[in-house]
Order: sequence, then structure tokens, then C-alpha cells
Amino acid sequence: MSSNLASKLRVGTKKAHTMAENVGFVKCFLKGVVEKNSYRKLVANFYFIYSAMEEEMEKHRNHPIVGKIYFPQLNRKHTLEQDLTYYYGYNWREQIKLSPAGEAYVNRIREISATEPELLVAHSYTRYLGDLSGGQILKGIAQTAMKLGEGEGTAFYEFADITDEKAFKAEYRQNLDAMPIDDATGDGETPSVADRIVEEANAAFGINMKMFQELEGNLIKAIGIMVYNALTRKRTKGSTELVTAE
Ligand code: HEM
Repeated sequence: MSSNLASKLRVGTKKAHTMAENVGFVKCFLKGVVEKNSYRKLVANFYFIYSAMEEEMEKHRNHPIVGKIYFPQLNRKHTLEQDLTYYYGYNWREQIKLSPAGEAYVNRIREISATEPELLVAHSYTRYLGDLSGGQILKGIAQTAMKLGEGEGTAFYEFADITDEKAFKAEYRQNLDAMPIDDATGDGETPSVADRIVEEANAAFGINMKMFQELEGNLIKAIGIMVYNALTRKRTKGSTELVTAE
């Protein structure tokens, strides 16, 4: 029996996905307007978030629902450590901190792991399927915009242990569908497990959006500096990378 969770998640988060795509920071990123100082803050937030998510997923690897999508080959913690070394240098641990939205994100992951671990599925879905979907395009954009050489600051986008990302996503979706969850709740009032997972995925999209919005302030400041530099001809011709005051 299929839970149809894969399609419930896709349909149920469609609106949130469109909204996330339209956050200024994300739109700018897609257009190649990426500024290293904002980007590395995002990488730092991701480090704390993925570390928490991967630690909590590991705790529940034998859980009948969570265990179905426990794929250590998705883990991003070590790739984020590599990227942080590139962006901050070897003492990156002393320099990074969580933003307020990042902190709320980590707290939520820890909280559900302790109380309703099946909702971790929503967090895994929202981040990893997104990463597997846009990875190579986003990597290319980051490289061009920030003028990164191969192997510089883009380890996050590389899934070394996944050779065919499309096939892997299909397997992930099959496992979502094979989860032992039932639509029916009996009383008609309490949301089903599937409903709660979709609801949590929407919350995960929401908190990702908050995190991107936090970075918009940095980006706007950087754009201001870029415009100033352009007007005073300090900007290198042809460069898409923004020059910021550190
Ligand atoms: C930069 C803007 C974005 C673009 C252009 C984009 C594009 C896409 C595309 C084309 C797919 C479909 C892949 C497929 O059907 O195999 C996809 C799937 C997905 N994206 Fe995004 N995305 C963006 C931002 C995000 C963000 C910010 C998140 C979450 C934080 C996210 C999470 C997801 C998820 C979970 C899926 C899987 C949907 C499913 O098949 O159930 N995306 N994205």
C-alpha cells in the first residue's frame, strides 16, 4: 500500500516553493548577483542546520518512518566544513554564528526529534530534494558570480556518493511512498501523519525563506556599495561579483 507521501509533499509545498523562489536573495542568486560575505553567512547557517538534522536523523535511523529515508550519502556536514574553510579560513569555527532564523531552524529540528521524530522526514525532504534538484545549476552560478575556481567553496553542491541524482530522487520518492503511514486518523479531526509531515515541510520552507530574507539586508548594502563604486568607476569592468566593505 502506498502512502502517496511523495506526491502529497510535492503538491502540498508547491505554493511555498514558488514563494521561496521569489525571495529577493534567491532571485538575485539566480541572476548571478551573489556577494561572498552574504553567501558565507548562509553556508555557516547551513553548517549548523545540516549538522543538527544529520545528527538527529542518525539517532532515528531505525525508526520505521524516518529509517526509510535515512541515506548517509546525502549528508552535507563535511562538505560544508570544506566550504567554510574556504570562505573563512582554518579558524572558521571561531568566526561563525547562527542567525536568529537559523537558530529557530536548529531548535525546531531538535524539538521534533525529541517529540515527533517522524516530522524529520519533512526537513530531510525540503533540503535534500531541493539540493539534488538545483545543485549543479546553483554551483555554476556561484562559481561565475564569485569567480570561484573548481573545488573552491562549492563542495556543498557535490554528492560524491550519488552518481545519478535523478535516479536517486526517484528512489527517495519511492521510499516516501513506502512509509508505513496511513491517511485515516479515525476521528476525522486529528491531522494524519502525512498531513503533519506536509505541514512541517511548509514550515521548513517558511524558515528557509526567513533565513534568505535575513541575508537581503547584507545584499542591499553590498548593492549600494557596488553602485557607488560603479559611479566612481572603482568597479572592475565585466565583474558580476559585488565588492563589499568587510
Ligand atoms: C532558486 C530557486 C529555485 C529553483 C529555480 C528551484 C527549482 C526546482 C526544480 C526545477 C525542481 C524540480 C526538480 C524535479 O522535478 O526533479 C525543484 C524541486 C524541489 N525544490 Fe526547488 N528550486 C528553488 C528553490 C528551492 C528552495 C529555496 C527550496 C527549499 C528550501 C527548494 C526545495 C525543493 C524541493 C523539496 C524539491 C523537490 C520537489 C518534489 O519533487 O517533491 N527549492 N526545485
